[in-house]
Amino acid sequence: MRRLVPDPAETTVADQVAGLDFAAAAPDGRPYVVTNFALTLDGQATIAGRSGKIGSDADTAMLVGLRTRVEAVLIGAGTMRAERYGRIAGALMVIISGRLDLPWDAPLFTAGEGEVLIFTYSDADPPPTETPVRVERHERAVDLVLALAHLRGERGVRSLLCEGGPRLHAELIDGGLVDELFVTHAPKLAGGDGPGLVVDLAERERQLEVAWLLYEEGTGEVFARYLTGA
Ligand SMILES: NC(=O)c1ccc[n+]([C@@H]2O[C@H](COP(=O)([O-])OP(=O)(O)OC[C@H]3O[C@@H](n4cnc5c(N)ncnc54)[C@H](OP(=O)(O)O)[C@@H]3O)[C@@H](O)[C@H]2O)c1
Repeated sequence: MRRLVPDPAETTVADQVAGLDFAAAAPDGRPYVVTNFALTLDGQATIAGRSGKIGSDADTAMLVGLRTRVEAVLIGAGTMRAERYGRIAGALMVIISGRLDLPWDAPLFTAGEGEVLIFTYSDADPPPTETPVRVERHERAVDLVLALAHLRGERGVRSLLCEGGPRLHAELIDGGLVDELFVTHAPKLAGGDGPGLVVDLAERERQLEVAWLLYEEGTGEVFARYLTGA
């Protein structure tokens, strides 16, 4: 892998993520929030309904590397339904769900290790699961400002990786709650009318700063790290 920006040089995913200290940059009242997405050239976040075919092993390595730099991983219910997550060692798993319609037989809930924290407006109770599940209820839509404040205040979470999906991503950006975006740009065309990086993001120009650009020779992927200035 070659680092193009800053300081062009040969590098590795491990070297790039080793120096990341998100927790140290946590603002008052919420964790430092970074997001990770893989996109095709035509801006698609899915191929056949899932994200897995977009990126290569290097993309997976970047995702796994970023997970080692945070205390919590956040996803929306749509992503949990599509991707059927398993446990992520060392990170508190957090899900935002309106209807509490989740794949309770997915490995995340059957592994019996770790803990899952769900923010929802549903009155329903989750079914019994092997993995301990805790539910925080909000009225109507989950207030993401309050949810992040809860993570910081009640759980001591200072660094958080949001892995999507596009709808939750847009809400977080609109709320000024995203500090950095890690985006894998894959040289592929997917077609179709699936979601992209965001869904229903409010129309307004937002200038981002490029913090790094990495090029993976074998696959042609470009890994970008953007700062929002939030
Ligand atoms: N390429 C990538 O890097 C990448 C990354 C992530 C996901 N994806 C793909 O994106 C697709 C999913 O997209 P998506 O936009 O539907 O997923 P999403 O953002 O993960 O989930 C949307 C759902 O999250 C819940 N939600 C979000 N904000 C809420 C709020 N404020 N209050 C209450 N509930 C809230 C709602 O759940 P309820 O439905 O329970 O009400 C909503 O339907 C999947 O196909 C997945 O594979 C791709």
